[in-house]
Amino acid sequence: METTPSEITQSVEELENAIKRRRTFAIISHPDAGKTTLTEKLLLYGGAIHVAGSIKSRKAQRHATSDWMEIERQRGISVTSSALQFDYKGYGINILDTPGHKDFSEDTYRTLEAVDSVIMLLDGAKGIEPQTLKLFEVARLRNLPIVTFINKVDREGVPPLDLLAEIERTLNIRAIPRNWPIGTGRDFRGVYDLIDGTAHLFTSLEHGGQKSEEKILPAGSPELSNVLGTIGLANAFEDERELLLMEQNLWDTTLFQKGDVTPVFFGSALNNFGVEMFLEGFLPLVPPPQPRASSQGPIEPSNPVFSGFIFKIQANMDPLHRDRFAFLRVCSGKFKKGMTVRNNNTGQEIKLTKTLQFLGQRRELVEEAFPGDIVGLHDPGVFHIGDTLCEKGNFTFEGIPHFSPEYFSRVQIEDPMKRKHMNKGLLQIAQEGGIQIFSMDQDGERDMIVGAVGMLQFDVLKFRLLHEYKAPVKLDTLGYDRVRWITGEDSMIRALAGTLDTLLVYDQDKKPVALFRNEWALRYAVEKYPKLTFHGTSPRT
Ligand code: G4P
Repeated sequence: METTPSEITQSVEELENAIKRRRTFAIISHPDAGKTTLTEKLLLYGGAIHVAGSIKSRKAQRHATSDWMEIERQRGISVTSSALQFDYKGYGINILDTPGHKDFSEDTYRTLEAVDSVIMLLDGAKGIEPQTLKLFEVARLRNLPIVTFINKVDREGVPPLDLLAEIERTLNIRAIPRNWPIGTGRDFRGVYDLIDGTAHLFTSLEHGGQKSEEKILPAGSPELSNVLGTIGLANAFEDERELLLMEQNLWDTTLFQKGDVTPVFFGSALNNFGVEMFLEGFLPLVPPPQPRASSQGPIEPSNPVFSGFIFKIQANMDPLHRDRFAFLRVCSGKFKKGMTVRNNNTGQEIKLTKTLQFLGQRRELVEEAFPGDIVGLHDPGVFHIGDTLCEKGNFTFEGIPHFSPEYFSRVQIEDPMKRKHMNKGLLQIAQEGGIQIFSMDQDGERDMIVGAVGMLQFDVLKFRLLHEYKAPVKLDTLGYDRVRWITGEDSMIRALAGTLDTLLVYDQDKKPVALFRNEWALRYAVEKYPKLTFHGTSPRT
């Protein structure tokens, strides 16, 4: 059936309106700063959940039902990134959660490719911690706009002005507060909105599920002076306020959008305080879905042709349904369930039938999605991280980073009857991007070697092979810490294999790869074999 001109106008309008509303961001923080708590409170205020505390209990439930998540509990880290969607006052919000532990940073880096802005969450008692710094640097590299939320103001911590100075000094970004705490620690009474000049005092601190009750007072109101008096801030607050209002003149939206200025909000996620002011304050600041670089130039979100890319693959999310999902960020056009798309990285045509979206705590079948949205695609093993899917056209999206492993272990099956299970598990986990597989010969028949960017990945691998694939393995750490993909003449590559402190292996595509024991061994090989080319990642990528 032909599309009529009015239907075309209608769909252009629908797409443009959807893009305008969308806000897709990730929360970056050091473990324990309160990311889970803040995420939950954002969902509470967005109406996606009605009683907070449920994510925590979901965490607990997950531990009960999914064995490998036990690792997460044991180590107190969040291994997986999830994508959550909810609406708030006309905005369509997508939050991509990122694991905070350093050994999972590749996953985080890829997730940061799929967002348009970042919330940097700090623990007000601790300031900038190492993992925040690392993640901040990645966000900075991508020129992502960064909004700061300083959490746990209800705890005794670093004075707010010192926190701003620390952000500016350590991160080299201008920090401009949008609100200001009224007292901190035990004296914490509320926050002052520097934009509209009102003080929001809480009438009760609500640790648990419900939204907190608050009283809104204009600056200079006698009641506010009274409260300030009781916490010994009667004069100090007025002086600080004047100084902070002057700071507002330095606000520059263009610099914010380039990642050179960060608006700073204070609050307490646990007590629900400052969370709503934060939502209302940052949503109008952060940009809607942005154009994305591709092999054929930038792709505008308003381009009516559907396109997107896979940034994450995750198997066995639900142990009751041993399924695997590829997470797609929609970049342009409208996604419709059942549509046929082309995987431009493999040339394969795929009908997208089983597609999910993650609404608060629920997974729901998704009928349609727009730029900025994240869709979970059921993956029978046809997707790879970085794949571009589109309705029409031949371009591929750029920028999904690939990582060189720095740790290597030989895998030995403990029960030879389970070798098939082990191979299946290794392959699936490698496709998720957690490890890379190498073998001692080109047929992949002999010893298997796995490479990872962090040692913790090996613990997760062992645990998952045992619990998800029933394949107990032993991992022997090998003393190599550098890897290079090698191209050049076969005879020369074979000669390289005999070099001291060098191990020649093959990747899954049967490409030769050399592992080196140290920097010296690598340099020696590079000098000895000038006709070989040494690549940091697979030459295809
Ligand atoms: P994460 O995801 O960043 O790792 O942190 P998470 O939200 O799990 O929070 C870490 C701890 O910090 C939790 O305490 C949480 O209750 C607490 N927290 C979060 N926000 C605030 C806040 O605004 N004020 C205060 N005082 N504490 C906060 P926990 O004891 O580790 O866990 P739980 O027993 O509360 O579950």
